[in-house]
Amino acid sequence: MKNVFLTGATGTIGSALVPRLLAEGDTALTLLIRARDDADLQARMAQMLAYWHYPPGDDRASRIRPLRGDISLPQFGVGDAGFAQLADETTHIIHCAASVKLNMELEQARATAVTPTRTVLDLGRRCAQARTLRKIDLVSTVGVWGRTPGLMPERRLPEVRDFHNTYEAAKAEAERVIWNEGADLPVTVHRPSMVVGETGSGRVMHFQVFYHLCEFLSGARTYGVMPELGYTRLDTVPVDWVADVIHWSSGHEDTAGQIFHLCSGPDEAISLKSLQQRVRRAWQSHGRKLPALRQVNRSLLERLVPVIGALAGEKARRALRALPPILAYLAEDQGFSNPRTTQALAAAGLPVPPVDSYLDAVLGFYLDSSAGQLAA
Ligand SMILES: NC(=O)c1ccc[n+]([C@@H]2O[C@H](COP(=O)([O-])OP(=O)(O)OC[C@H]3O[C@@H](n4cnc5c(N)ncnc54)[C@H](OP(=O)(O)O)[C@@H]3O)[C@@H](O)[C@H]2O)c1
Repeated sequence: MKNVFLTGATGTIGSALVPRLLAEGDTALTLLIRARDDADLQARMAQMLAYWHYPPGDDRASRIRPLRGDISLPQFGVGDAGFAQLADETTHIIHCAASVKLNMELEQARATAVTPTRTVLDLGRRCAQARTLRKIDLVSTVGVWGRTPGLMPERRLPEVRDFHNTYEAAKAEAERVIWNEGADLPVTVHRPSMVVGETGSGRVMHFQVFYHLCEFLSGARTYGVMPELGYTRLDTVPVDWVADVIHWSSGHEDTAGQIFHLCSGPDEAISLKSLQQRVRRAWQSHGRKLPALRQVNRSLLERLVPVIGALAGEKARRALRALPPILAYLAEDQGFSNPRTTQALAAAGLPVPPVDSYLDAVLGFYLDSSAGQLAA
């Protein structure tokens, strides 16, 4: 019997992992979930069971143990007895939870990235002492490379000092903690690039940065004013593939010690120009009226943002607030290298999916959803 302890099951990646783990009949899951009290925990679980399409009485649902807790608290806030029980029964740890807000105070960012990493390692060590532990998989991000220019390799981080935001800085520190303090444990680190909806359906738990970027690229938010996109590429991956890889890695103890770049790679990542064309086509075919594009250089656009904001309504103003970090990313000359990951995953029957295999479904799902409709 496998006993998997999973954090972040209500999030984009964790929610895609749960059905994959439970598809194995011998797997039981303990899900660490934030909740105000037990009633709130049950309510959140009911929402998630509906999301996973598990009807009442479903065998898979009966193998889930929801556990109220918080990754930023000592022992995840589950107390001595709760932590001891986890240490006694857990065979696999998959740590997905994190706050993905980019503008947190550094201490807050560290509390949801560095502190939980130490708690995961502590739990792993206790499971190892109890002789139950088989594998730990931790989800990091390609963002740990910060503003480092060029092609980022699939290896442990050198000293990186220049980050776009506190999220990246804290995730980089968490990775250092993994290798400095957890070298004795069977750990694999996953660094996804930008995660989008599923291949086929486009379904996704949360509409994150990618969808804001698409709204921006459509031109609808800026009255058509658009920076030159040059040759910048955007590295994206569908959430079903990310979850498949983490699931596979969790089941393969020989992946311990490795770092996987879960990304399209520099040659396959879509250029922003093509993404913009695809977005505008999809938006128009869903009846969204778009202004003609007017190209300006990036620094001029940065100066124009407050002016457009002053003229725009509240909805557009909110969308424009997301623009400066996006513009900062667009200014980078950075790519994510993935030859080792690609080779390992091709051998595992998990080739990196081409953008064309999921992009239309991803945009369509967003546009059909209430978020896509409200943004119109
Ligand atoms: N999505 C991406 O594009 C992307 C790219 C690279 C790396 N990553 C990494 O992938 C991992 C998963 O991200 P995601 O996209 O799935 O994020 P997400 O959709 O924002 O979900 C975050 C998850 O973490 C949980 N969480 C946050 N703070 C918590 C706390 N203090 N205690 C307990 N649970 C907490 C959330 O619970 P609530 O439901 O209670 O908020 C939710 O389940 C993160 O480590 C992230 O850094 C994501």
